[in-house]
Amino acid sequence: MCIEKVFINMRENSEIISFSLRNSKGFGIDFLNLGGVITDILVPDKKGNIENVVLKYEDLETYVTNPSYYGAIVGRTAGRIANGTTKLNDEVLTFNKNYGVNQGHGGPNGFTFKIFNVEVHENENEVSALLSYFSKDGEEGYPGNLKVNIIYTINENNEFKITYKAVSDKDTLVNLTNHSYFNLSGNCKEDILNHYLYVNSDFLIELNNNQVPTGRLLYVENTPFDFNIAKKIGRDIDRDDPQLAIGQGYDHPWMLNNEGDLKLRLVHKESGRVMDVYTNQKSVVLYTLNFPDDKVLDCGRKPNRRDAIAIETQNPPIGEDNIFTKYSILRKGEEYSKETIYKFSILNEK
Ligand code: BGC
Repeated sequence: MCIEKVFINMRENSEIISFSLRNSKGFGIDFLNLGGVITDILVPDKKGNIENVVLKYEDLETYVTNPSYYGAIVGRTAGRIANGTTKLNDEVLTFNKNYGVNQGHGGPNGFTFKIFNVEVHENENEVSALLSYFSKDGEEGYPGNLKVNIIYTINENNEFKITYKAVSDKDTLVNLTNHSYFNLSGNCKEDILNHYLYVNSDFLIELNNNQVPTGRLLYVENTPFDFNIAKKIGRDIDRDDPQLAIGQGYDHPWMLNNEGDLKLRLVHKESGRVMDVYTNQKSVVLYTLNFPDDKVLDCGRKPNRRDAIAIETQNPPIGEDNIFTKYSILRKGEEYSKETIYKFSILNEK
């Protein structure tokens, strides 16, 4: 196990620090105190080569604006809030609109752009980091002082766990996720269209043209959204389908089935890398980088469409007329508690 710190000065009056957590095999993560951004998840392939399986900006300064939310903690609410408004206890809440007509990813100054306090801990079997942030009453329009604790844990089984905890002193809305873009080929060698994906979900959350839920759940069978039998991400992504047209690819929430602990599996056959995802979150947003930004990646080139897939385990996002708002309500004094585990292995070992 090892913990390292590197200091990077990119923002006035606040030091941006990069931390490394590793197990004894070299598996692990690098992350920033800025937005809790995960810049690297370092995973061996079938030959033992350790490479980064998430998209990373070449210039760490890009994380100050982080246009595509690479690797970041997203909050207070991940995804869109329809028209930047919803109701809580019959009170109308309004938020800044930073995603067209909607509010997105917690607003223009959401958690992605905040400095977290970081404490690292180590024992025989695991190494972890506690990232905490105090979000003041009214921040980005959300009621209540909110104490947020996020824990990143690495263990000897090549598992990376994110635990999300939050408590508020008023009723409020909370829906936290992480926005890492995965590509198991390592150091962005190829796009994700040949990765195999399994998603343990029978229902897609239908979106309207403004990319927010209509309130309807669509049965995935016989649609491009059925990943109950693993298939290549590229197989149906360009099919003529009204839901695919809305996001110009996958950019949708799936309701996760209650049955079965394994919620998602991503496989890259050539490298042998497999990632299994376990979570107690109710849904997952999958976004296939349909609109990449133009900032250079760590692998020395600009990102292309479908270079990676963001796997955002979260509550269903909030649609018009309070659709699905109930999933994101955190009552005063109650604890919000979610976790997602990313477990890495090699295909032939299974
Ligand atoms: C959203 C996309 C958005 C991306 C980057 C994803 O979570 O679903 O629509 O383009 O984040 O902000």
